[in-house]
Amino acid sequence: MSQQVALITGGATGIGKAVALKLAARGVTVVLSGRRRNVGDAAVAEIAAVARNGAQVRFVQNDVTQEDAVKSMIEGVVAEFGRLDMAVNNAAISNETGTLLQSSSQNYRDMVATNILGVYYSMKFEIAQMVRQGHGAIVNLASIAGLNGIAYAGPYGSTKHAVVGLTKSSALDHATQGLRINAVAPGAIRTDIIAAQLSGSDENYNEASISAMHPMNRLGQPEEVANAICWLLSDEASFVTGHVLNVDGGFQAK
Ligand SMILES: NC(=O)c1ccc[n+]([C@@H]2O[C@H](COP(=O)([O-])OP(=O)(O)OC[C@H]3O[C@@H](n4cnc5c(N)ncnc54)[C@H](O)[C@@H]3O)[C@@H](O)[C@H]2O)c1
Repeated sequence: MSQQVALITGGATGIGKAVALKLAARGVTVVLSGRRRNVGDAAVAEIAAVARNGAQVRFVQNDVTQEDAVKSMIEGVVAEFGRLDMAVNNAAISNETGTLLQSSSQNYRDMVATNILGVYYSMKFEIAQMVRQGHGAIVNLASIAGLNGIAYAGPYGSTKHAVVGLTKSSALDHATQGLRINAVAPGAIRTDIIAAQLSGSDENYNEASISAMHPMNRLGQPEEVANAICWLLSDEASFVTGHVLNVDGGFQAK
């Protein structure tokens, strides 16, 4: 079988980069998107160093809030590599903590644009290609905040509830066309997105309180989420679609 190709939005850091490292090491060509070229170029060098069996690594400077740019990016991947086997819709922001009354409407609009519309645009053009080629696997990044109410994280959590909805409904729409569409729901993972909370600048959130939310009483590592994503992308999950896989140190079992 010729080289498989994966697209990972926001793939130059955190969980996305951990997925890219694993896929490239398994011989999958990976295309990372993101807004910052310097961060993207550094990630490409790191990932290329572990790539096997001729897997290629590309960075595309792209903002998932821009529908035309997302369309061009996905068309560009198909033009260069002729296929899109896997997609991880990972790009997201979490730009504040607090109650709804404390939140800023502009911050919420920005989260809706990135976390919901960005996933919607990406899925739209990924699915179109996957339907054309008759196969494909998509994993979206939801969150424990997409399955539960989380105090002081309501606006962000609402965008992740939307990701769960997009995942499940699209999985049904394309279940007979060779597509599998799933999500992961991570607990708190040690990456840039929660760095501000970990520093303890918000009295409601700090390393100890965030750890204590999880029965394992710790944060997760990006690689622990990447393992779950890579399984969902693989043929080992061939009868799994419309599923939201918890990677949360037991949070959802409470
Ligand atoms: N870290 C956690 O605790 C946690 C928990 C649950 C879910 N998640 C989700 O996991 C995913 C990855 O987050 P992470 O923890 O690796 O943090 P991260 O900040 O390292 O990764 C997010 C990436 O998305 C990129 N991005 C943001 N806006 C973008 C845009 N408009 N266009 C393109 N790229 C953009 C960022 O630059 C970054 O590279 C996110 O969807 C996040 O919501 C994270």
